[in-house]
Amino acid sequence: MLTGGGDCPGLNAVIRAVCRRLWEGGHETVAVLNGWRGMVDTNLKPLGWDEISGILPKGGTIIGTSRTNPYKLDGGVDGVRKTFEQLDALVAIGGEDTLGVASKLHSEFGLPVVGVPKTIDNDLNGTDYTFGFDTAVYVATDGVDRCHSTAESHSRIIVVETMGRHAGWIALFAGIAGGADYILIPEQPVDYDAVAAAVERRRSRGKNFSVIVASEGCELPGVTDEGEVDDFGHVRVENRAVGETVAQEVEKRTKMQTRATVLGYIQRGGSPTPRDRILGLRFGLEAADLVESGSWGRMSALHGDEVDSVPLTEATAELKLVTQSWYDTAKTFFG
Ligand code: F6P
Repeated sequence: MLTGGGDCPGLNAVIRAVCRRLWEGGHETVAVLNGWRGMVDTNLKPLGWDEISGILPKGGTIIGTSRTNPYKLDGGVDGVRKTFEQLDALVAIGGEDTLGVASKLHSEFGLPVVGVPKTIDNDLNGTDYTFGFDTAVYVATDGVDRCHSTAESHSRIIVVETMGRHAGWIALFAGIAGGADYILIPEQPVDYDAVAAAVERRRSRGKNFSVIVASEGCELPGVTDEGEVDDFGHVRVENRAVGETVAQEVEKRTKMQTRATVLGYIQRGGSPTPRDRILGLRFGLEAADLVESGSWGRMSALHGDEVDSVPLTEATAELKLVTQSWYDTAKTFFG
């Protein structure tokens, strides 16, 4: 198995479950170190009881990760195919990029691959939720709560910037749970006047402070992306400085002292919530069952309370973005 892309709370739960279930069937399990990089270089390490002992509550991934895209490396895909000669199956645990590579390798060469949906951003199609999202929302909500009490004490506005490069799920959920006075997400146009109007509505009720939650992936009026692009063609959204820019624009309009806080990697690091541990374990068991039954090209998925599977092609065809009805739920509480 390999873990690819940004790390995510619950990765080690998946690894544990894949091992435990496959061992029941008499199989051996091997880690491919550092995501697709390890498949290109044949960097393998056997996983036994010692390796997986005590990993369930641990953040990160015990087998390393990378954003390597073998399709972007000279000889990358050949390297991956060569490594496959030593494996009977590959469990790829990742988001849209990692699973996009898995899907392509399966459809182009018929390689024995299954996937597990990982991302704190919760933007993978084909599953109701990804593991890691619950932990990120828990941490981000705590951040919003903490900013609330300091904003109130200082009669300030605080803009809390969350992760979420394409989709605003973390901002939306943490914003709703934390009682944000406005939430800005990539799926909706950023309207600074509307944010300022919400702050003013509160002021007219005697509330001299506000908390605004903004996703790092918001498209800001007049700001274009430039600079570094990763192997999968993504720009570094933190260069947009969404939190800081929104804070400046809101301060201009409201004349209230406005500060920004970027939550950053604390949303992604550290121990998973019980919900993410359990979801990771269930996804891992399903992935091992897919391997056992030779159901290649499929991904574990959550539908309602049931874990089943969907084709990788469905999971990676498009991103799961925040719907208008979810945003309308949040809007009821703005201002
Ligand atoms: O894990 C997804 C994500 O958290 C995005 O929201 C974010 O833009 C990206 O990863 C940043 O990760 P890195 O800095 O590791 O490239």
